[in-house]
Amino acid sequence: MNYDYEPGAKNLKQNLNCIHIGANIVFLPKIDSTNNLAKEYAKSNAPEGLVIVADSQTGGRGRMGKSWHSPPKTGVYLSILLKPPLKTDQLSLITLVAGVSAIETINEFSHQSANLKWPNDILINGKKVCGLLCEMIPNKENPCFLVIGIGINANQVAGQFPEDLNKTATSLRVINGSPTNRLDVIQSLLKNIDREYHGFLTDGGNSVIKKWGFHSNLFGKRVSIQHGSTITTGTAMRIDSLGRLVLLLDNQHEEAFDSGEISLNKNYFEI
Ligand code: BTN
Repeated sequence: MNYDYEPGAKNLKQNLNCIHIGANIVFLPKIDSTNNLAKEYAKSNAPEGLVIVADSQTGGRGRMGKSWHSPPKTGVYLSILLKPPLKTDQLSLITLVAGVSAIETINEFSHQSANLKWPNDILINGKKVCGLLCEMIPNKENPCFLVIGIGINANQVAGQFPEDLNKTATSLRVINGSPTNRLDVIQSLLKNIDREYHGFLTDGGNSVIKKWGFHSNLFGKRVSIQHGSTITTGTAMRIDSLGRLVLLLDNQHEEAFDSGEISLNKNYFEI
């Protein structure tokens, strides 16, 4: 089958030299969702580090039940299976691993620098260029099985996003004014994830927590977090040792969040 990724995909694995990621990489022209397929592989005991890449997705999924627009020849859509020896309360740290790895790749390929928006988005000029969907596969034993799904808007041109995303989404191509080689992006991403994941397994997350703070402009800002039906407002202070965002509330108590939707009165994501 002939599709965009075919000519270079075979070389990618040979050039990776990773410790944890990419011994098995599956390239597909089309799939419903790379996360769904990675979860299926996990159930049949696929090894850690399996990567699923698709040229397009027919049912790409985002957070909070949203869809992820995934036409062919434009975005990077991939999922990675990990089996870290983690307690469930440490899972947010893996989201940080994914976020730091993805933003370092985006900064390598973008002419303008990006910001991390807690918990899972990467923005350039206040517009979304990348989203992360980390999912756990229920499993009673340790290590837990996780799928990290990453979508990067690489080669969409202005106006190519669906109507409702046109004002809020951007792509590397829009930013740079020229197309990006998606295989190069994937190679960088897998190397970065391998490095950050290895660091995390070695130091328990200290380094990735610091890097996350470096790539975010959140701390010190007043924010509201919607978590279920509750909205909590306070000042964003830091990421704690479990990878949660800590808010200082108006009553001077601190509260830590492992998920939610963040918002701010002023659009602090634009710097
Ligand atoms: C979000 O921003 O809401 C998360 C988007 C995650 C999209 C990626 S694309 C590859 C992987 N497969 C999916 O179905 N979703 C993730």
